[in-house]
Amino acid sequence: MWWQREDLNYQNHRLCFSGRNVEALASQLPTPSFIYSGKRIVNNLERLKGALNRHGFKNQHTIYYAMKANRFMPILTLLKTSGLCGVDVCSPSEVDMARACGFECEDISYTGVSLSKTDFDRLSKHPNIVINCDSLYSIEQWGRLKLGTEIGIRINPDIGISRTHNNKLKYSGNMPSKFGIYREQFHQALALASSHQLKVVRIHFHAGCGYLTAELRQLEEILTASLWFIKQLPDLQWINIGGGLGVPHSESDQLLDLDAWAQTIQQVYGELSNIKLAIEPGEYIVKDAGLLLLEITFCEHKQDTLFMGVNAGFNIAPEPAFYDMPFLPVPLHETSIKQRINIVGNINEALDVWYQNIDFPAIDDQQHIALINAGAYSSSMASNHCMRGSFSEYLLL
Ligand SMILES: Cc1ncc(COP(=O)(O)O)c(C=O)c1O
Repeated sequence: MWWQREDLNYQNHRLCFSGRNVEALASQLPTPSFIYSGKRIVNNLERLKGALNRHGFKNQHTIYYAMKANRFMPILTLLKTSGLCGVDVCSPSEVDMARACGFECEDISYTGVSLSKTDFDRLSKHPNIVINCDSLYSIEQWGRLKLGTEIGIRINPDIGISRTHNNKLKYSGNMPSKFGIYREQFHQALALASSHQLKVVRIHFHAGCGYLTAELRQLEEILTASLWFIKQLPDLQWINIGGGLGVPHSESDQLLDLDAWAQTIQQVYGELSNIKLAIEPGEYIVKDAGLLLLEITFCEHKQDTLFMGVNAGFNIAPEPAFYDMPFLPVPLHETSIKQRINIVGNINEALDVWYQNIDFPAIDDQQHIALINAGAYSSSMASNHCMRGSFSEYLLL
């Protein structure tokens, strides 16, 4: 099966994850439960760093983990302790959480949208965090606050990127978006920064989510589009190319080739001297390091379709329903007898469907299932819709 790997596979027909028998875990833990592999998280980070080190960015890069993907405190603490990354944050409360987990202000990069007066007040209590301004309005506000003399500017390259060209995951390119400053306003942005004696030392962009090897050509186009902005910044020290690196969600997805990814960046920026690279991945670090364990509730036919119900719905892992990102359900032990079913949740909404038309073992044979790729944008995006927002989280070390 395409999703199996060294630390997630069947051994003697039992699903094993990070050295644990998942069926045994499911019978001991309450459900719904997210289980995360600390080893996989660190491994994902090390793999990324390795590729950057091999292709021109040795000691010339910083990874900021995008904590919007998963802010479970034990994960943040693990990342802090690993010393491999800082954090990318997008709200004052995320700054507070990052600080509580031990990150220094200098290791926190802030790129948020639509900041209120209260947001600016709260952020100004952390004067050393790295700030990227995403609008003329925020340059003006930071200029007035005069917390420092250096800022970053989030630009909008007007080209998007996403897994399988999914427009819902693009932040740029389809239609005017709220993210970043477009070419047309860039000179105005620079004039505004200069009127407040702010040096623009960073450029930032994040054009979309979930890209894999197939989308590297688009990444190259985006990086190339950024050169127009970069050439106008004499004080530039950092280029932050955002996150967006994806993991496979279906058999037809091809793993992101990290060497090809890092080479793409090197090819476009190789000629620039004394510039450091920043990236802020979320999905790539935590998504494939998480499983969601669910209890099976019912199984019955409605017309000609067999439905299997589970004890949680899209509200605790919204990506499949909101973004058409499939979270594949997998059995906790393998059997040869399978039926074609639809797996559905416990929320009174028509879109509460986990997976349609999947060949799955019969219900008499199992009490729980696991959804893979549940480590990112699940617990962090969960809501209490229908008052069914409870779940537990565990970090396996
Ligand atoms: C500004 C910014 N940086 C980084 C990320 C992380 O993206 P991903 O989890 O796709 O790597 C996001 C996601 O929304 C973002 O908006």
